Amino acid sequence: MEKLLVHGGRSLRGSVRVQGSKNTCLPVMAASLLNAGISVLENCPDIADVAVMQEILTYLGCVVNREGSTLIIDSRDACPRKIDDTMSCRLRASSVLMGPMLSRFGSVTAAKPGGCDIGARPVDIHLEAFKRMGASWSIGDSCIEVSAVHLHEGDIYLKFPSVGATENAVMAAVLTPGTTVIENAAREPEIEHLCRYLKLSGAKISGEGTNKITVEGVESLSDVVYTVPPDRIVMGTYMAAAAVTRGDIELIGCCASDACGFFDVYTGMGMKYKNTAGGIRVWQTDRPRNLNCIKTGVYPEFPTDMQSVTLSVAAVGEGCTLFEENIFENRYKIVKPLNDMGADISVDGKKAVVRGVDKLHGCALKGTDLRGAAALFVAALGAEGDSGISNPFYIYRGYEQLITNYRELGAEIEEI
Ligand code: UD1
Repeated sequence: MEKLLVHGGRSLRGSVRVQGSKNTCLPVMAASLLNAGISVLENCPDIADVAVMQEILTYLGCVVNREGSTLIIDSRDACPRKIDDTMSCRLRASSVLMGPMLSRFGSVTAAKPGGCDIGARPVDIHLEAFKRMGASWSIGDSCIEVSAVHLHEGDIYLKFPSVGATENAVMAAVLTPGTTVIENAAREPEIEHLCRYLKLSGAKISGEGTNKITVEGVESLSDVVYTVPPDRIVMGTYMAAAAVTRGDIELIGCCASDACGFFDVYTGMGMKYKNTAGGIRVWQTDRPRNLNCIKTGVYPEFPTDMQSVTLSVAAVGEGCTLFEENIFENRYKIVKPLNDMGADISVDGKKAVVRGVDKLHGCALKGTDLRGAAALFVAALGAEGDSGISNPFYIYRGYEQLITNYRELGAEIEEI
């Protein structure tokens, strides 16, 4: 089995371009079904999740070509096929195909979505939104079938501001006659990015980035060229790596506001920063100072996707931090491996108390989800000695050219 061997303790230094955002690219790829035309998507990350979405779109009859970091999707001949479970179980974000397929074909049959084992991840809020637009559904052992003779405008109130449900509701509404209003919508930047793609192709949407989004249905969408913005969680992972290695990294293509919700946490822990011509330079000279409390929440609160890597930073911080995970229940699976490395973390339900230790030591580690595996990688970069990380494919799901990029910053990593 493939492993990453990390020789820890090297300070990371240099410049790195931050890849395009996974969580923007995936819903935008799904939305490309809506224009029944050509979408040229620039700056798409070359990661496993994008490759799986590409496979699913091809299976649905789209022609998808990659030229460097540009994906060209021709969705003219897409057809309504059941989304194969061997594909969808590999990708939680396959659930965002439901809105576009329902809109374009009037029905969608999909295997229950897969992806990271970080919690139950139901889709009831997505289905409730479709229902408000006239759809009905049935759920079998492994499949969900959603259909509507005619979707109609709807007033939708999401019981929780789910990112995926907001994306699905917007995508189902853009070609639906009338005005659909989505309240208690998610406000994450990825929603704004998706709406920007849709508006560039002719959709009429307002209010994205607030908790009330209004979509006026249009008859059709047209061909579009769109550039995927930088990935804020990949940016944050570099920040965490800089924090644990006392590093100094220029993040090309990013700015502080991309890290809204966690930038203040990192500067609070002692990270310094300076804007540069190409992005932002971040560096950490002293041991991170642990903050009293870090609670995950919906945007603009601290993102759940940054919780695991930040746990790795706090593990070697000075003082004690209380973490509270309010979005996904299984995010603390990495506590045991971190403790095996010498961390002092105790978990009680959604709370974890981290008592910072001076140093972690390398040991055998195993990834079980994307961000958790990335957090173990970060911990290994800062640890004394060697760590072998098995299941590195979890990290490759979201991080492009991980080994090359981190080696260029001075990390010593081998693939074995
Ligand atoms: C997206 C991101 C993920 C991020 C998460 C929260 C993508 C591909 N993934 O996931 O990286 O961690 O937002 O920022 O963009 N929920 C329900 N019922 C539903 C839908 C969600 O109960 O129908 C619950 C979930 O179990 C979870 C919470 O709502 O506890 C948040 O989920 P949601 O915002 O939907 O996250 P995703 O869109 O799956």
